Amino acid sequence: MLSVSCLNVFHSNLQVVWDLSLHVEQGELVTLIGPNGAGKTTTVETIAGLNKNASGTVTFLGESILGKPPYDIFRKGLALVPEKREIFPKMPVMENLLLGTGDPSATEKNLKHIYSLFPILLEREHQMAGTLSGGEQQMLAIGRALMSNPKLLILDEPSTGLSPLLVGQVFRSLEQLGREGTTVLLLEQNVRHALALCHRGYVIENGRIVKEGTSKELMHDPEIQRAYLGF
Ligand SMILES: Nc1ncnc2c1ncn2[C@@H]1O[C@H](COP(=O)(O)OP(=O)(O)OP(=O)(O)O)[C@@H](O)[C@H]1O
Ligand SMILES: [Mg+2]
Repeated sequence: MLSVSCLNVFHSNLQVVWDLSLHVEQGELVTLIGPNGAGKTTTVETIAGLNKNASGTVTFLGESILGKPPYDIFRKGLALVPEKREIFPKMPVMENLLLGTGDPSATEKNLKHIYSLFPILLEREHQMAGTLSGGEQQMLAIGRALMSNPKLLILDEPSTGLSPLLVGQVFRSLEQLGREGTTVLLLEQNVRHALALCHRGYVIENGRIVKEGTSKELMHDPEIQRAYLGF
């Protein structure tokens, strides 16, 4: 579904992603894990068309998308839940959700689905989004991405800043999305949760993929255990 090959990305003159290759197949949940500053956000922003200073190939559903405008990539079915959530604080929850609409005829069905995943958003439907708790804002950001019924959902560290209870809730909702057949690329620093949820993973350090494998392989890798799992 998504295939990235030999991706190099720059911020101004500084290269931060080097020869990066990864792929995500239909129905898979794949995680990209790595420490602060490793290049996770830069990688997915480039995939989503938000950083043009890049070379290599990115294909989505068989079509080359590197350098295409972000809206075209979104219309093809790739939705990114950004690291900073980027909700509109002075707009009600419901209107924030509607901003993510892809096909207007599916609005009712999508809203119902999102409210079943995150019942708190239905309770808070008319509340200003800026007054939601951090965890609720994350749910709103995920909900808004789901309003387009994406073929691939990319989430940039959805658990950051959340209490353990809310982290559990967000991961359970991702598990449900996976069961429903949504394809997911998840960026995380919460390696334990990410590997428990996903089928496969890639480890990125200093802009390079340094390891890849099934979640089981990565979980049992002594270096991963030492560096990320606190063994
Ligand atoms: N707009 C920018 N201009 C210059 N350098 C940038 C810019 N954005 C990111 N960088 C640099 O690129 C590198 C990778 O950053 P990136 O945000 O992709 O990392 P990350 O893996 O998402 O980290 P985190 O887990 O902290 O979100 C870092 O060294 C960062 O300082
Ligand atoms: Mg980041």
